[in-house]
Amino acid sequence: MANKCEFISLPDDKLERRRNLSFSFNYEEITIPSTLASFAKGRTYFIHTLGCQANYRDEEVMGGILEKAGFKKVASEKDANIIIINTCAVRENAEDKVFGYIGNLKAIKAARKDTIIAICGCMVQQKHIIEKILDIYKHVDLIFGTHNIYELASMLNEVVTKRVRLIDVKSLPSDIKENLPSTRLSSFKAFVNISYGCDKFCTYCIVPYTRGKERSRKMVDILKECQELKDAGYQEVTLLGQNVNAYGKDLNDGSSFAHLLDEVAKIGIPRVRFLTSHPWDFKEEMIDVIAKHKNIMKYIHLPVQSGDDEILKLMGRRYTSAQYKELVDLIKRKIPGVAISTDIIVGFPNETYEQFLKTVEMVKYVRYDSAFTFIYSPRNNTPAAKIKDNVTAKEKSQRFRELVKELEVTVGESSSKMVGNTYPVLVEGASEKNPKMLSGYTETNKLVHFKGDISLVGQIVNVKINESHVYSLMGELVK
Ligand code: SAH
Ligand code: SF4
Ligand code: F3S
Repeated sequence: MANKCEFISLPDDKLERRRNLSFSFNYEEITIPSTLASFAKGRTYFIHTLGCQANYRDEEVMGGILEKAGFKKVASEKDANIIIINTCAVRENAEDKVFGYIGNLKAIKAARKDTIIAICGCMVQQKHIIEKILDIYKHVDLIFGTHNIYELASMLNEVVTKRVRLIDVKSLPSDIKENLPSTRLSSFKAFVNISYGCDKFCTYCIVPYTRGKERSRKMVDILKECQELKDAGYQEVTLLGQNVNAYGKDLNDGSSFAHLLDEVAKIGIPRVRFLTSHPWDFKEEMIDVIAKHKNIMKYIHLPVQSGDDEILKLMGRRYTSAQYKELVDLIKRKIPGVAISTDIIVGFPNETYEQFLKTVEMVKYVRYDSAFTFIYSPRNNTPAAKIKDNVTAKEKSQRFRELVKELEVTVGESSSKMVGNTYPVLVEGASEKNPKMLSGYTETNKLVHFKGDISLVGQIVNVKINESHVYSLMGELVK
């Protein structure tokens, strides 16, 4: 398509750090420029999303806007007139994947010159990434950030009518937009944003810069969305926030996560989940609400990151290993049968082997039901990235492997304890490895494979567990 670049705005990390901002709520519906609506006739789109649940929810909003304009969704980039890459910046390997993918799109663009290629998401909230894209990947037509997704229709209209390469990445979040169109990726489980952004500024993390200041949606708007999902027959809702516990603090109207969770549970959706809880402001009141409602899943994702106090301090996590253990003890005492999962970073700058062993000790203490483990990846402009690191990549991978081995013991143990018992499972679809089998998740988020008819997808069924492999279970349907 076009060659000339039009810069509307570029991200600036100093501005992205700003927190003295106020927000209002906007309920206006978006409008579609008529030139874009005529362009959309008979044309298609494809969105490739990487990263966390927030990005998948953004994909649904972008899909909603594109479909409102008249574009139709297709299952492969090969058949799409518009290709959007929705990126993640949390670790370097996430970024590498994106560059690989953009590179591969060159062939599509060469074969069909009028294909529009757009890049959005957290990665392009960094100026150096935009410079790299403009320099190396000349086939990219549109770059926009996490704060102006709602402007997708007007940005595309510019690209289509003016035939320019458009770059519009804002540094600061906009007001909270309600009433954006969205096409849900599933007809039985849904993500619902309760807050955007993050104010925790863990020293290794890029999210507070890419997603901006923490902003909560109003409780009435969240409850309305959940009610609509319930009415549409949804079986599961996951409330999303980088730190759900902080929900409502910025609203100054007495809203809290415990209260919100209580109200969402009362709507009666069979499964209510939430992601993610920071251990620092996990209130006892929240534990009581989780314990009280049968439809709040007894599964808590509680990222520990490290088991060593000195490292936790350097990470800016605001809790000690003893406080974390105390919280876990309280949760386990008040919520019988609760499953706890976590995120762990191995190889933070200058982490000693002894400090790493404290993390292993934490794993042994908590006996996690599942865990996500990462090797520390320096992120541009974060405080941790400025620390001179004396740990080699080889040492880090060795520790990573050691940790994974330890986790296999506790995760395996929690899975094997389930053998012989029957659990409700929400059926996701045909099993990836064996299309003759179905797969689904238990209330505690364990993956189960079993034989059954494809018509069960989207339903909650009872499955008796016969066999456990560390990361999955095999079972049979029971009446
Ligand atoms: N808001 C969520 C997590 C967002 S990022 C929370 O606080 O739990 C998901 C996970 O990625 C984090 O929990 C952390 O374990 C990991 N992570 C974040 N930044 C990282 C980095 N620079 N290197 C390695 N892992 C990182
Ligand atoms: Fe990143 Fe910490 Fe915020 Fe999670 S709480 S998004 S790890 S800064
Ligand atoms: Fe990645 Fe952004 Fe989510 S950096 S983890 S997509 S908030």
